[in-house]
Amino acid sequence: MAFMRFQAPRGTRDVLPQEAHRWVHLEKTFRDICHLYGYSEIRTPTFEDTELFVRGVGEGTDIVSKEMYTFKDRAGRSLTLKPEGTAPVIRAYLEHSLGTPNQITRLFYITPIFRYERPQKGRLRESHQTGVELIGSGTPDADAEVIELTVRFYQTLGIRNISIKLNSLGEEECRKSYREALLEYARPHLRDFPEEFRARCEKNPLRLLDSKDPEVQKIVADAPPITRYYEKETIEHFESLQKLLNSLGITYEIDPKLVRGLDYYTKTVFEVQSEFLGAQNALCGGGRYDNLIEEYGGQPTPAVGVAMGIERALMVMETLEIEKKVERLLDVFAVCLTENRIEFAKFVKFLRDSGISVVTDLEFRSAKSQFRQADKSGANYAVILGDEELEKGVVKVKDMRSGEEVTLPSGEVLRVLRHHPA
Ligand code: HAM
Repeated sequence: MAFMRFQAPRGTRDVLPQEAHRWVHLEKTFRDICHLYGYSEIRTPTFEDTELFVRGVGEGTDIVSKEMYTFKDRAGRSLTLKPEGTAPVIRAYLEHSLGTPNQITRLFYITPIFRYERPQKGRLRESHQTGVELIGSGTPDADAEVIELTVRFYQTLGIRNISIKLNSLGEEECRKSYREALLEYARPHLRDFPEEFRARCEKNPLRLLDSKDPEVQKIVADAPPITRYYEKETIEHFESLQKLLNSLGITYEIDPKLVRGLDYYTKTVFEVQSEFLGAQNALCGGGRYDNLIEEYGGQPTPAVGVAMGIERALMVMETLEIEKKVERLLDVFAVCLTENRIEFAKFVKFLRDSGISVVTDLEFRSAKSQFRQADKSGANYAVILGDEELEKGVVKVKDMRSGEEVTLPSGEVLRVLRHHPA
């Protein structure tokens, strides 16, 4: 029988040991920044009731209509692997009464997301996001806080040349009128397009605006602008936000075609893009969603948030050759040159009890093989214990960088091991 060699499923990636430190660095940077702004971590389940996303993200979106990993469990419930983090966070916020409508709740998360998309550079079926949700404030100052936090995150990571795209989708009334106007304008131009595409446009005309199809782009170039339908409140909100961003030194570009692929947005939407990404050029996306909490049965509560793609940030960091110096993770490789495994094991335990990280060759191979492993291990020191050393109560310590070797009484070894220059 032929052996089957398993591979990671299409659109998924392993994070291998040699790259894991980059993830740790990014996640730590994100956590530190969230702390700076007073956000608390929340972790939600990998799957949720399918209906949560249908209602929240929207039936007419690509995510819900064709990208969800939906399955029935053994009791026949329809469940979906989370395609994004906002809906689950809001579900948890309401379920556990994490805040009241006039109280501000600041939450952050680091999560995998699952979307059945066609995999390509920067687009995976399982990808990862860092994100924040600021719940309970409807002010432009809240939008500015989220945008500023986002910019600070990329700056701290060393990601240069980002561009911020900003738009406002107005409130309910504005979007309704605009959808109708856009459709009325586009309908005659779409006559020769496939039936399926036209049906999708009828359901969700805003999608026309961010279509990648050059023919569609040509059509929408002359479409009426959304600004014409803004409510007074939307105009004031958008202007105040721009003023705030200007005074915070944040440069942005207003992009009236930025609509985003989720239905819950109201007023402000934004994306940060990078020229170092390919066609999938969005590092992150976010915006205000003032109706979602009410949609989920809560009191009307304004909210705004953002989610940043981890893989995309790491891709840009790789292109820009931003490599965080890898700290040597291992203090000691302990070389065993005695038959007395018990004494050796006790000595290794003593080192670990003292906070020194240690790796050993559990197979007790030849001295030559153990030294080779010590070299490869990346340890700062090799500590050598043989019969002679055991008898005299000493150990040999070899500095793996300089090659220098000293013999020390066992009691003094910690002093040396703890003070390795980085
Ligand atoms: P989103 O724009 O769908 O927004 O995703 C945010 C970011 O996640 C994208 O800009 C991209 O960097 C990354 N991303 C999304 N899908 C993939 C994929 N298939 N492969 C690789 N990276 C991907 C949201 O998810 C909203 N929940 C953001 C939000 C939070 N809005 C308000 N609060």
